[in-house]
Amino acid sequence: MSELEALAAEVAQCTRCLLHQGRTKTVPGEGPDNADIMFIGEAPGFHEDQQGHPFVGAAGKFLEKLLESIGLTRADVFIANVIKCRPPGNRDPLPEEIEACKPFLDRQIELLQPKLVVTLGRFSMARAFPKARISRIHGQPRKIGGVLYYPMYHPAAALHQPSLRSTIEQDMHRIPELIEQAAQIAESPLPAEAEQLSLF
Ligand code: URA
Repeated sequence: MSELEALAAEVAQCTRCLLHQGRTKTVPGEGPDNADIMFIGEAPGFHEDQQGHPFVGAAGKFLEKLLESIGLTRADVFIANVIKCRPPGNRDPLPEEIEACKPFLDRQIELLQPKLVVTLGRFSMARAFPKARISRIHGQPRKIGGVLYYPMYHPAAALHQPSLRSTIEQDMHRIPELIEQAAQIAESPLPAEAEQLSLF
């Protein structure tokens, strides 16, 4: 069993927050353990909770199309979420749920050491850019603490707001070039410093 698989087994036993009471399955995330790119979404929805796999509903179908547009499939990338259990009624994750699940996500990034971490949506973005607005920073890569983050809108945003679709597609199209340049992209100031410099 790989260390990522061992971590997934640990997630399956987790009772760190109340979400364990209502879950059908945990959704730890999945992908090759040598993936260059890691996508981090928000939280499992209905279908993910039923199946135990991330992004298998409508947003997942769009994510697959986006991947296809840059010559990738979901089998090429690691896909995870900020929290590993479905919030009731698909409500936003609570701060205590995000905090309880953080060690799992931290460890996944540490084990995977991806060249690029693509955050999907504001909850995922907030782990690297706590005070940023997604409308201002999407599509702008920044290296923080040795990890190259690339904030994007959540694919579900395009389902609710079709005008965002082309923005998401354009941001996705930059990914191959970012992977090429990953080693050259310089470390950014810490988020607090960046904020003072009004980068966000
Ligand atoms: N939305 C997410 O953020 N994650 C999923 O796994 C599915 C939908």
